Amino acid sequence: MSASGSVAAVETSDADQWTRAEAANITLTNDTTAPLIEENSESISDDYWIWDTWPLRNRDGSIVKINGWQIVFSLTASDDLVPGARHNEATIRYFYSRDGQTWQEGGQAFEAPLGHHQWAGSAMYDQGEEQIYHFYTAVSSFPEFRQRPALAIGSSIETGPQGVELTGEQEHVIMGTPDGELYQTLEQSREQGIVYAFRDPWYFQHPETGEDFVVFEANTPTGSRDPGNPQSFNGNIGVMRATNDELTEWELLPPVLEAIGTNQQLERPHFVFNDGKWYLFTISHKFTFAPGLDGPDGLYGFVSDSMYGDYEPLNEGGLVIANPEEAPFQAYSWLVMPQGDNALVESFENFRGLDDTSRGSISLDEVGYLPPEEQKELFGGTLAPSLKLQLEGTETRIVAEFNDGHFLPSGGSSGKGPKQSR
Ligand code: FRU
Repeated sequence: MSASGSVAAVETSDADQWTRAEAANITLTNDTTAPLIEENSESISDDYWIWDTWPLRNRDGSIVKINGWQIVFSLTASDDLVPGARHNEATIRYFYSRDGQTWQEGGQAFEAPLGHHQWAGSAMYDQGEEQIYHFYTAVSSFPEFRQRPALAIGSSIETGPQGVELTGEQEHVIMGTPDGELYQTLEQSREQGIVYAFRDPWYFQHPETGEDFVVFEANTPTGSRDPGNPQSFNGNIGVMRATNDELTEWELLPPVLEAIGTNQQLERPHFVFNDGKWYLFTISHKFTFAPGLDGPDGLYGFVSDSMYGDYEPLNEGGLVIANPEEAPFQAYSWLVMPQGDNALVESFENFRGLDDTSRGSISLDEVGYLPPEEQKELFGGTLAPSLKLQLEGTETRIVAEFNDGHFLPSGGSSGKGPKQSR
């Protein structure tokens, strides 16, 4: 505590590293491999592909339940499109539910004056102000995909016996842009010929200091241009801190974690606070690991005692959830939410039907060359069955798979419950 009685602000330090030596320990085990999704899950939307999804949370990170309703937000795009075209048309829509299992479609979450389309984010509801803070990525159109973390403040929630409506006008602000030193700019990444990311703001309130932060996906400039050089693989988990109470102004802070020499993309980073520990989760792809390393499309995680701490990879290498080997792209974009001593993990059905081995080795890159109907056939584009994850110090274990759409941690009405215990 400082003299004024408030807790001192977080002091930053240099990012910890997810090293090559650590990532060399990535292993698929029973505890880290999700069950095969045997049937297509029923879509929660008749008209849209659905992928990255996040719940409306209170400032303290708990899930909002308002007059019995829960609300989630998803990236969506018309299912007339081939799956690969959806990224350039992504719009955030909301869905609401009483049981966390059956979802009704609400509509577009907010008018979006910034950017050509929107990518992932997070959503916080301030109970006192009765307004939503929509964190999202304002993205310019293909092929540039310039990404700017943004915030839309001001939506209110109206509930009735039949449903939920989000109303009101929002003020939109850009939260920040890469500075070229801590965070690689689009221009630097072009020179280096390497992917660029500055996206996926995920809000959290620091559990001790009460400060408002976001973590996001970015890259550290390393100057390396050669795709054969591991140094070109430079993913990081960036941080911004709000500098006013209205949350309209933010400062860039050093990343909490870097994967220099290890992996190029640490997508949708987010924290879970459990047992006094900081669990940092992120999703990543097989194709973004640096030369000489191998890891599946999966959920990766790290644990530390503090925000700018020493992050130990979970399960030694960092792998927390992988798809089963016979369907390595069946799900993606896992999001971990605290649930009691455990966690609940939500994701979407990706290229479920794509199977490296039995479908004549169709790779993800090759999907785009198939006739449109076949591409759609291979893609899920809806919520995948949620998983229950046990967190125990530096180890995790997938302990159950839930029925379709069982999505939000809830205090009781858990729907049909586990389909399969392990
Ligand atoms: C993860 C992701 C996010 C991004 C979105 C774009 O699935 O790549 O990082 O916001 O999808 O569609």
